[in-house]
Amino acid sequence: MQVLRTIPDVRAVRAQAQGSLGLVPTMGYLHAGHMALVRAARDANDHCWATVFVNSLQFGQNEDFNTYPRDLPRDLALFEEAGVDVVFVPEAETMYTADFSTYVDVEKLTDRLEGAARPGHFRGVTTVVCKLLNIVQPHRVYLGRKDAQQLRVIRRMVRDLNIPTTIVPVETVREPDGLALSSRNVYLKPDERQAASVLYQALQAAQQRFAAGERNAETLRAAMHAVLAQEPLVSVDYVSIADDESLKELTTIERPALASLAARIGTTRLIDAMELGREDTTPE
Ligand code: PAJ
Repeated sequence: MQVLRTIPDVRAVRAQAQGSLGLVPTMGYLHAGHMALVRAARDANDHCWATVFVNSLQFGQNEDFNTYPRDLPRDLALFEEAGVDVVFVPEAETMYTADFSTYVDVEKLTDRLEGAARPGHFRGVTTVVCKLLNIVQPHRVYLGRKDAQQLRVIRRMVRDLNIPTTIVPVETVREPDGLALSSRNVYLKPDERQAASVLYQALQAAQQRFAAGERNAETLRAAMHAVLAQEPLVSVDYVSIADDESLKELTTIERPALASLAARIGTTRLIDAMELGREDTTPE
């Protein structure tokens, strides 16, 4: 496995790579969710590349950029073991020169949910992902479904800007009690960790009512709130039943929808999501 730190190095190695290339962009501190993306990328491509970059641009002023968990030696060992060919680990100065002044902004889709809760977050995500795609030029990019809005925003950017790559969504990997794996789960104290499974239970409650035929979005939101309310350590940021494509809040579910939520447990903010009525399509 090669570890590259500069853009000229990436370009040189990329030029030698024949056949298809799958990219897994990450902020590191890897867990089994990231590794599921790696497996998907490795299995479907001649080359599997990954990036590790904690992107300051997507963190708000009062967010956890400085304390975001980092362990590069461990990340590199995990990538190597999983059969990653190249890892790009840029320094902040490599990605953002002092006079950096160009941003990618996906409108509307980013007004809601995480975009509303974290102003500027998606501008940071789309700007860095656009740069990584321009640098690595992968045939396919692997993204997790847990970050449901991020997946949709990046997909929109790729379409709107005609970036020649295919987005491949990967199913959310969960702990046995349903908690979606996240680098931020390490912040949870033992009692908070136990309480955190209620996020999944809330999504499941929506999923089950939807499967039983309920199409009133407010009823599903109320069901999610009721489950979350059972856990005093959890404070709800938002609960949403939105159109899967526009992410607009729904009254009645008539097309595929997205159940999603954000909640704070202590000082940790977690998000999760589940699709309702997704037609099962093969990734590509
Ligand atoms: P990060 O949080 O490190 O996540 C990297 C990728 O792993 C994302 O596509 C995310 O959706 C996916 N992922 C996280 N938890 C997962 C889980 N439990 N199951 C499946 N996939 C999971 O998301 C980012 O980094 C950044 O915003 C990034 C896209 C790298 C841009 O900076």
